[in-house]
Order: sequence, then structure tokens, then C-alpha cells
Amino acid sequence: METTRQPDIFIASNRLPVTVQKQPGRVEVERSAGGLASALRNVGGVRAWIGWPGAAIEVAQRATVQARLQAEGLVPVFLSADEERSYYVNMCNGTLWPLLHYFPGSIEFHDRAYEVYELVNRRFAATLLERVGKDDVVWIHDFHLMLVPALLRAERPELRIGFFLHVPFPSQELWRLLPQREELLRGLLGADYIGFHTADYLRHFRNACLRVLGLEAGADSLLAHGRRIGLGVEPLGADVAHFQGLLAGDAVARHLAECERRWHGRRLVLGVERLDYSKGILPKLRAFARLLETEPARREDTVMLQVVVPSRAENRSYRLLLEEIEREVGRINGRFGAPGRMPLEFVHRGIEPAELAALYRHAAVAMVTPLRDGMNLVAHEFVLCQGHPVPAGSQHRGVLVLSEFAGASLSLLRALPVNPMDLAGLASALGAALAMPVEEKAERTADMYERAVELDSAAWAARFLRRLDRAAAHNTATRRAVFDAAAGDEIVRRCRAAPLRLLFLDYDGTLREIAQRPEQAAPNAELLRLLARLAALPATEVHVVSGRRRQTLLAWLGNLPLWLAAEHGFARRRPGGPWTEPVVVDRTVLARVEAMLLDACEQVPGSHLERKACGLAWHYRLAELGYGSWRARELRSALDELLRDQPFATLAGHAVLEVRARGIDKGRYLAAALAATAAPAGAFVLVAGDDRTDEDMYQAAPADAVRLHVGGPLAGTQALPTPADLRRLLAACADQITPR
Ligand code: UDP
Ligand code: G6P
Repeated sequence: METTRQPDIFIASNRLPVTVQKQPGRVEVERSAGGLASALRNVGGVRAWIGWPGAAIEVAQRATVQARLQAEGLVPVFLSADEERSYYVNMCNGTLWPLLHYFPGSIEFHDRAYEVYELVNRRFAATLLERVGKDDVVWIHDFHLMLVPALLRAERPELRIGFFLHVPFPSQELWRLLPQREELLRGLLGADYIGFHTADYLRHFRNACLRVLGLEAGADSLLAHGRRIGLGVEPLGADVAHFQGLLAGDAVARHLAECERRWHGRRLVLGVERLDYSKGILPKLRAFARLLETEPARREDTVMLQVVVPSRAENRSYRLLLEEIEREVGRINGRFGAPGRMPLEFVHRGIEPAELAALYRHAAVAMVTPLRDGMNLVAHEFVLCQGHPVPAGSQHRGVLVLSEFAGASLSLLRALPVNPMDLAGLASALGAALAMPVEEKAERTADMYERAVELDSAAWAARFLRRLDRAAAHNTATRRAVFDAAAGDEIVRRCRAAPLRLLFLDYDGTLREIAQRPEQAAPNAELLRLLARLAALPATEVHVVSGRRRQTLLAWLGNLPLWLAAEHGFARRRPGGPWTEPVVVDRTVLARVEAMLLDACEQVPGSHLERKACGLAWHYRLAELGYGSWRARELRSALDELLRDQPFATLAGHAVLEVRARGIDKGRYLAAALAATAAPAGAFVLVAGDDRTDEDMYQAAPADAVRLHVGGPLAGTQALPTPADLRRLLAACADQITPR
């Protein structure tokens, strides 16, 4: 019996779970800070985790570092100090971080930053490619490595590739500020499946792909290069087993006793975050000060501890923030403190897991107030430690005050929601949290505890990998349906051997890639040369069958000896001949249709009307996303009503709503062309298309015709990923036949 090997899982992220400390002569590692490292630390079944060791390691020390990390299943990707600056400090932290977190005013643009970002992404991809086998799974994490999926895909079409974004994806209006907005999106589209913390981030990403790249999309997928890229909402939670283990241990009990002793009689308001301007640390401190001002009794019975974990000290904006926090802490203590009693304690260092768990457990309130945060694991960890049923008999004491701009606010629904921009609101939420009755606190915590356990990071990873598997299986099946070199050779062989060749080729999306604006899709010299070569073959008719107007086809292709069909076959032209129309249509109603569509153009900015000889088309590819298709649906039902007894019907295409004569379609054109030619037995008929209107041709073609569908699988056709693949195949046919 054949046994299939369990695939190995390879993780790639910029930050490894440990960071190497540069010490002269020896290698030391410490736990990395931050949500990504916390989340992935206990993912099961991982063969290797590839990442940057966190510091520029001199060449002489690299072997030692490699050996040290290898023992933990980690593979370092080394960067020079220069590379670290351009890639990590400048591009990732200076440009991408503020952009992704809605801080457009803080975005920095540095020379060479993107160039080096690309170089480092290539190095990650190369490190993976050296290790992964054909059936393995690669899971890439976060905004540092957005180009890696496509780099891997180019080398290994069959690899299962997942990507998870740990930060928000902003509205496309913001994303478009980035000069490399297209490259980065294309990089991600190499994945089979992309996960986000919230549905908003998914929607923004999908919209960016539609708007910036002009892709086609389903509700939870995108189509690109003949592949379907699954999109999913996968909210991440904390490492439950890790915290449960800690809470059951002696170290936490010791720290809890220490908390009691240290803050006896005063309730603890806790803040824990990496030093980051996205975390809303200053507004939180100011809200605490506001509370002390309005409720003086809190100066005696409350203490706040703000833990700020050092982060990204290489970036100036982070250093400035630290100085400002330190000044604010000084101001608050100066104003509200007394000898021997400071209301605000501030720690600028990382803290040990057991001490952190004890603080979470001991705190009366956790203030989690980011201005923007992909998820925020601190909130989850606080809830886990508060809700955990030890020690026996202890009460739930804590309240979570949580910014509505953290992804976690969509998972932890019983927190007290706050807008960190609203200082008075923050202060009053903190006051309300401190005054909350114990039953209400217990009830809220119990609800959120359940949710926090469900979102456990290990369960999250297993869920993600299952969904990745499903998405990848779809693409594998599609790839198999796409014809391979052998199927291509067979088409070329039949084409060469046939006594007569009839090619029916759709234009947009088939011979030529779809462009954002219809007029940008003019044929380039390479395509014109190809069509000329095909038309020059003996016993060959080349029909370009398009929905476009005759004027456009004439201007672009009129000089070539081609058969042209405009407006889905309503107007036809033999090579060099006049245009003919096969039917006479009463067009009176078109004036009313036109009035409705002009109205729509006025109301939907970015949309425009195209007038054809026997129809009208309303294009909305450049209109605001969603709004265009929403109005198109409305318009279509109004038009269907108007056209009920008329010789016209509506047809919905890719970002276009058309009204065209009934009884006209590309299939009828093809049938008429075949009948006119009296094609002999053995004639080679090839039909190539990409959308709904081309399916009429597939249906009308003889049984033994070759049916090629560009862009994805369709029953009864052979799939070709892109127009370039079709052009290559047609060129291969031309290569095999001597021209007339
Ligand atoms: N954390 C840490 N070192 C500390 C204190 C906290 O690594 O000294 C952890 C904390 O437990 C949490 C993570 O850092 O898991 C912070 O994740 P979060 O999602 O809140 O924010 P991020 O830092 O990823 O932006
Ligand atoms: C966030 C990012 C992670 C990053 C972490 C710490 O959670 O999403 O990718 O690892 O912050 O930041 P750092 O720059 O130290 O890796």
C-alpha cells in the first residue's frame, strides 16, 4: 500500500521566538517580545522556523549562532548592519508599520529601503527553497515578508503556501499611498490562502486588490494567474497552555504574594505594551491623570503600573516617544504623588512570563488603549489570567478597558469599550471599571474567558493550516486541469496536420490582459505580429470575436487580414471588406436606456457610458468599489423591466452592464462563420475566451473543437492561466507551419 508522508510545516517570520544578544565572544539568546513570537511559540508539527536572529551577526560568529539556534529548530537568515537598517528599520518600521496602522503623517520614505526589502525577501525565499520538499507547507508571517509567497510560487508552483498578516490592513485609500503598492500585493498573491485577524482587514485587502490590480474576486477569494487565493478571518488568541501552566506554578504564587505586599490596600491599574506610538500609551497615562484630578480619593487607593517593553530603539520616532512617556510619568507623579507614594510606576524593560501572569492576575483593571492594533494579545492574556480558576476561592477582580481600534475588541465583547482619542471617555471608563460591582466583573470575565480559550493560539494555528490545505487542494486540482506541455504539443500537432484551421479568439482578457481603462488595452507590437503570423498561415481563418465597438477593432486590427466580429457578433467584417449587420433591430428603446445609463454615470463617479451601434455599455471598473456593483444590480433590474417586450436584453460582465440586441451572441457568430466556410471533416477549430460571453462560443463549436479558457477552470474547457500562455501556444502553432 502506498503511504503518503505527512507534510512538514515550515514557518517564516522576520522575528524568531528568540533574539540573539551580541556579546563579545559568545552567543546568548533571550525570549523575543511581541505578539507574533508569543503566538507561534507553541505551534505544533513545525519542522523549522526561519527568521532573522534579531541583530547583525558578524560573519565569524554566524556558524556558532546557526548551531545554537538549530538545536531549537530555528534557522537564521543573517542580515548585515546595512541591510538591517534599510530593510527592518527603514522599510518595515519606518514605512510599512505606520501605513498599516493608519499613521500616514508618520510614514517615512528612505532611499534603497524597498530595494533591500526585496533583496531580504529573496534571501528568505532562497533559505526556504533549500529546505522544503514538494509536498510541504510553508507558512509566512507578517508584513516583513510580503514578497516571499510569489517568490516561492515562481520556483515551486505546487507548494502549499499560507500567509498570515498580524497587523491591520488599512483602507485601500491609504494603501495606495505606497509607491510599491502593486508589487507587495502581487507578492502576497503567490499564497494559496491569506488570513487576517478581522473581516475589516480582509475586506480592505480585497478592495485594494480589486482597485489597485483590477483583479476579479469572490466574497472570500481572489482570482489571479489562474489560481484562486482563499481569504479568511482567523482571529488569533493567546497561548492558553502556557498561561495555564504558569498560573498553576509556584513562581506565579510567589509573585502574587509580592504584589499583595507591595501594593497592599491599593488597587492596581495595569498597562503592558511594547514601546510603540500605535499603542496609545500617552492617552492612557493622561486619562489616569484626569481620573486622579477628578476623583482625588484614587490618589490614595489606586496605583498604576505601566510596563513598556523596549522596542525598535533604532527608529527615532520610538526614541522620541520614550522621552515623552518619561516626561509624562514625571509630570503625573510630580503633581499627584506624595513622599513614599507615587501613583504611577513605570518600568521600561521586558518582564518574565511568571511575573507578567501574576500582574495580569492581580490587576483590578487592565487598560489596553491602542489607537490601532491588529489584534492585541495582552488583552487576551489578561482575560485568561483573570478567568483562570485558581487559586481556590479567589474572586474575579479585574476589568478590561479595551480600545475599539484593537482587533481584540471584536473577540472580547464584554470589555469596556473606549475610544483612545476621547480623553474624558477614557478617564470615565477607568472610573467605571474601578467602581464596577463584583458580580458584574465576574460575569464579564467568565464570558470573555471562554472566548479567549477558544481562540487559543495552538487551535488557531491548526485551524489556519486546515483552511490552507483546502485552499491549496483547490489550486492543485486546477493546476492538473490546466493543460501541461503534452496537451499543448497535442494541440500544436492537430493544428499543423489539419486541412483547414479556424481560430475564434476573444480579445480582452484572452489575447490581451485586462486593463484598468478599456482604451489602455490596445494591442502591442508583439500581439500584432502574432496575429499577422497566424493570419498568414495557409488554409487558416483567424476570427477576433469581441464585445467591443467596430471602430475600436478597426483602429487596432483593421490593417491585418483578420475576420472581425464587433459587439458580440452584431457587426461582422471579412478581411478588408465592409461591415455587415446580420439582423435589423428596432432601436427606438435605446434612447430611454441611454438616458438611464447617463443618469447612472452622473451618480456614480468614475463610471462611463460606451455607445455601440446596436447597444450600450455602462462601465464601472473605476468607480468606488461596492458602490458600482450595487448600482449595477439596481440598474439591471430596472432595465430588465423596461426591456421586457423589447428586442434588447441586459448582460452583466466584468464591471460592465450591457444592453445588447436579443438573438445576438458570439455563439451564433461562430455557427454562422462555420456554416459559411463549409468546413471539411478534420478541420481544426480552436475557441479561446475568458468570460461569460465566450461560453456561447464553446457551446456552438463542434464536439472535437479545442476550447481554451483563460484565467481559470471551466467545465468542458482546458484552462490556461493567463493571456501570455495563450499567446505562447498560438505562437508555437505558427512556428510549426510554413506561411503562405
Ligand atoms: N510580552 C513580552 N515581553 C514582556 C511583556 C509582554 O513579550 O516583557 C508579550 C505579551 O505577553 C504579548 C506580546 O508581548 O504576548 C504583546 O503582543 P500584542 O499582540 O499585545 O502586541 P504587539 O507587541 O505584538 O504589537
Ligand atoms: C508586532 C508585529 C510582529 C513583531 C512584533 C514585535 O506584533 O506584528 O511582526 O514581531 O510587533 O516587533 P519587532 O519589530 O520587535 O519584531
